[in-house]
Amino acid sequence: MKIIRGIKAMQGSSGKCKKKGLRIGLVPTMGALHEGHLSLVRSCRRDNDITVVSIFVNPIQFGPKEDLKRYPRPAGKDAMLCREAGVDYIFYPSARDMYPPDFKTGVSVRELGKGLCGASRPGHFDGVTTVVAKLFNIVRPDNAYFGQKDAQQAVIIKRMAKDLDFGINIKVLPIVREKDGLALSSRNIYLDRVGRAEALCLSAALRLAKDLIISGQRDTRAVIRAMSALISSAKNADIEYIKIVDPNNLKEIERINDECLICLAVRIGKTRLIDNVVIKRSGLKK
Ligand code: PAJ
Repeated sequence: MKIIRGIKAMQGSSGKCKKKGLRIGLVPTMGALHEGHLSLVRSCRRDNDITVVSIFVNPIQFGPKEDLKRYPRPAGKDAMLCREAGVDYIFYPSARDMYPPDFKTGVSVRELGKGLCGASRPGHFDGVTTVVAKLFNIVRPDNAYFGQKDAQQAVIIKRMAKDLDFGINIKVLPIVREKDGLALSSRNIYLDRVGRAEALCLSAALRLAKDLIISGQRDTRAVIRAMSALISSAKNADIEYIKIVDPNNLKEIERINDECLICLAVRIGKTRLIDNVVIKRSGLKK
């Protein structure tokens, strides 16, 4: 495994692999790697000859009051996990190289980034699409791997890759959870013991929603009301949003007649957590 810090060096190594006809897969991350990230790495290794993991805590996707400074950066452990997982290259650029002082460009998928998480995090998804566009141009992968955990991010990146003709296949993989249902996240380490227990209200609310829909409830307001009541029973939980949307365009729906995406953001104390579930058409038979 090679750790590359320079942009030109990464482009050079990728270019050499491409000349040899090797298929390149990219897993973009912000580090603090866990089983969720590693599931993307495994999938990437299955499909490609070369697996590149980028680790970059992207400053432009954090709001002024967000956790950029305290975001975990366990570089040594991340490198070890990547080595064990059979990663070929870690691309580990510096913020100065990615965003030199004269950097001016932004990539925006506009309205897809305005709702859901975008409502409380203005500019967040423009920061994500800008860095992912740069990573795509630096690594030039054939395939790139993202998690359904960040459902809105996945929809936006698919849109960007299509709209800007990147010619990269975007693969979206299922959410990896702890045994008790909590979706893995680099931010889970912020939770104390009580918070960790209360954080289960997110996945519990999604399970409740799924059960209600499977047993015939079609009114999204009724589903959201039930989820909201469940979450509010956790003392330190503060609901940012609960929405039921069309998974293709993220537009809110009133009646569930087709596949839908139920997503939510909840603060447990100071820790903001997100989770979601897709209800497939086959789950709506009743
Ligand atoms: P990060 O939060 O590090 O996540 C990197 C990738 O891992 C994302 O595609 C995310 O959806 C996926 N992931 C995180 N937790 C997961 C879980 N429990 N199960 C499955 N996949 C999971 O998302 C980002 O970084 C950044 O926004 C990035 C795309 C790297 C751009 O900076």
